[in-house]
Amino acid sequence: MPSNEMLAPHPLSSSIPDKGASMDSVEAMIHKQMAGDVPPSRDLGRFTTTKYDDTATRLFNVGNVRNQACIEEYPSIASFQSECVSILAGLWNAPSTGFMGTATTGSSEAVLLGGLTMKRQWQIKQPDVLNSRPNVIIGANAHICVNKFAGYFNVEARIVPVSESTGFAVDTEALKNMLDANTVGVFLTLGSTYTGHYDPIQRVANILDDYENRTGHDIPIHVDAASGGFVAPFTPSNETFIWDFRLPRVQSINASGHKYGMAPLAVGWMVWRDKSKIPQELLLESSYLRGSHTNFSLSFSRSGAPIVGQYYSFHRLGLAGYRERVQTMMSRANLLGTRLEDTGFFSCLADSRRLVSHKANEINTRCQEGRCVEAPELPIVVFGFSEHVLATYPKLRLSDVSNAMHDLKFSIPRSYTLAGWGAQGEDIDIMRVVLRDEMTIETLEEVLTGLTHAVEHLIR
Ligand SMILES: Cc1ncc(COP(=O)(O)O)c(C=O)c1O
Repeated sequence: MPSNEMLAPHPLSSSIPDKGASMDSVEAMIHKQMAGDVPPSRDLGRFTTTKYDDTATRLFNVGNVRNQACIEEYPSIASFQSECVSILAGLWNAPSTGFMGTATTGSSEAVLLGGLTMKRQWQIKQPDVLNSRPNVIIGANAHICVNKFAGYFNVEARIVPVSESTGFAVDTEALKNMLDANTVGVFLTLGSTYTGHYDPIQRVANILDDYENRTGHDIPIHVDAASGGFVAPFTPSNETFIWDFRLPRVQSINASGHKYGMAPLAVGWMVWRDKSKIPQELLLESSYLRGSHTNFSLSFSRSGAPIVGQYYSFHRLGLAGYRERVQTMMSRANLLGTRLEDTGFFSCLADSRRLVSHKANEINTRCQEGRCVEAPELPIVVFGFSEHVLATYPKLRLSDVSNAMHDLKFSIPRSYTLAGWGAQGEDIDIMRVVLRDEMTIETLEEVLTGLTHAVEHLIR
């Protein structure tokens, strides 16, 4: 973790100035310091939404002065929150009654709540808690926040390998051998932060059903659908790739509203299938004028703005709007992947990009016909150098390409070495572009040109 000094673009002052300055001069100073940042719309490594329409911005300001925690004073925020939870429970096929949910600061907080629920459930069932250490099953493709849960809540993390031969998703054979009576739950990802692939949630549910039949141990699944929770439901493959509450084994699901939910930072969502299965001690009931309110969260005061923003997006876009946006992003991801491979410099990792490689005309025709080109995975493009480039220019590094893009004020982090994920257990170096709603065809062309020029320049 860099220190504050490393992050600071200018010398840090160590005290509040004796006297305040004018609004204009302070504003100018702040803008000046931010001028060195990557413009958020050109941050291609991040999933978080960076563009809102004027109405959303106005509503954000109205919500921002309303504290989510004060439900008596701001019942509107509490009711927006409840409606958003109900919408998501429906979208993720929860039973029509009995579910519970909450807004969080993001998927990380939601994952902690999901893990905490599973740990407490296990503690209640476990006769010899003091002498047994709980464990949780986590894919090597899980986001760091899942490992954080294990570390912070003193649960052993059993890491399931992920590799090219398992489709960049958890190895279900290895997972089978990790289960025991102290397994509190299994975290699965829809889809991976690194490669966009979805874990085989239905297959794992079947394994856990079989395990329960043999041993009597009932192990729940939490699905970390930080990005996929707002992608999968809007794609045709949702009919065949079953991942949500349609599987009785799935106890809880989280997603980040501020990613593909098209809400402003910072909001995540957590939904449990059955409130009655949540240990009572985790639920704080408070009564207020209009009734009672159940609270299960890790924080208290928070801005109401992102909840207002989520509520606005649901109503403004509707199902049709979300579907259209997701399918456009999928098509653009395929187009970018195809065009990258066409340069001869790059090779894509994600299946859909590879399947459609060199079929740009076909993609264009399908897009025009409104037929989505999609596999069950996120709209991201994961790529590295092609075999030809690797063989001819062994000293070339993706980090050099990333630096060249940074000079163009684009952030495409060469942040990932997938350690041991290759078919032969080798490391795979990747770059990743996240397609977001605000990424236009023009930006895509600029990215493609920048990447191509960067390699041409580096191999000269
Ligand atoms: C799979 C997954 N889980 C959790 C997170 C953390 O989400 P948040 O930033 O909303 O806390 C991310 C962020 O990218 C993610 O991709």
